[in-house]
Amino acid sequence: MAITIRRIHPTFVGEVSGIDITQPLQNHQVQAIEAAMHEHAVLVFRDQPLTDQQQVAFTRHFGELEVTLAGQLAKPEERRFQQLELGDISNLDVSEKLRARDDARRMYALANRLWHSDASFRAVGAGYTLLHARVIPSKGGNTEFADMRAAYDALSDEEKNEVEALICEHSIVYSRELVGLAVKSDEHADKLKPVPHRLVLTDPTNGRKSLYLSSHIGAIQGWPVPEARAFIRDLTEHATQRQFVYAHEWRVNDLVMWDNRTVMHRARAFKDLQEKRDLRRTSLKGVGLALSRRLQAAG
Ligand code: OGA
Ligand code: MN
Repeated sequence: MAITIRRIHPTFVGEVSGIDITQPLQNHQVQAIEAAMHEHAVLVFRDQPLTDQQQVAFTRHFGELEVTLAGQLAKPEERRFQQLELGDISNLDVSEKLRARDDARRMYALANRLWHSDASFRAVGAGYTLLHARVIPSKGGNTEFADMRAAYDALSDEEKNEVEALICEHSIVYSRELVGLAVKSDEHADKLKPVPHRLVLTDPTNGRKSLYLSSHIGAIQGWPVPEARAFIRDLTEHATQRQFVYAHEWRVNDLVMWDNRTVMHRARAFKDLQEKRDLRRTSLKGVGLALSRRLQAAG
């Protein structure tokens, strides 16, 4: 079976066929997917009935798995699955019941409705994230992706110049502040401190630049905070215009894989107090991001 990829948006997103990702991959298949990620930034695999273990095994082909901060912050008895590499992206509690309106975990997850890049609040943010759909609501609950390479390319030369050397400060505290939540943790205080990332990243394999934007940004080094916030808001508005956006309408057993260095994403609303939605997430450390930062710092 040969892998084939069909572009489903004018600038990014490929739908992959001719591969069974529930089974261990061969090297050439891993390489084909890696290459496709650099080209399309988001890949959609349909009809892949992955178990939790199979999703973790598929993800491992591409690098070292991350453990989410949400998972670490949750008490073991409040987790639906104990495997920390598997993120629980659902509106369900341990007894598989819908979470209540004022449920702390539900409120925390509502920040996923803001455009973001996963784990950009870490010194090394996430590289790929993979989401697998187990249960989907009858209506709504799409995930949207915005192409940060196309958004960069569409800037004027003057704007490109302005963003080139900027360094943003990212923290989970900033994104939760935007939805009115205060994140505090004595145990994890170090994980809440802002971390710096370049605003413009370069993919070393093809030289393409992208805007590394995220709801986790709260400051720009050397700028007054209100000016930085207004600037990031404007840039985010530019970068998420409809022509840069793909809306994924989930089907059960879809797996969507994206690169957090080249796209932003957000969850869309659904009747989450009435209907179940259960997605499982794995993500990888974005080692290439550290690389591109070093390259740029040197250059
Ligand atoms: C995530 C996320 C979006 C969604 O899992 O990182 O942002 O639609 N999910 O659930
Ligand atoms: Mn996310």
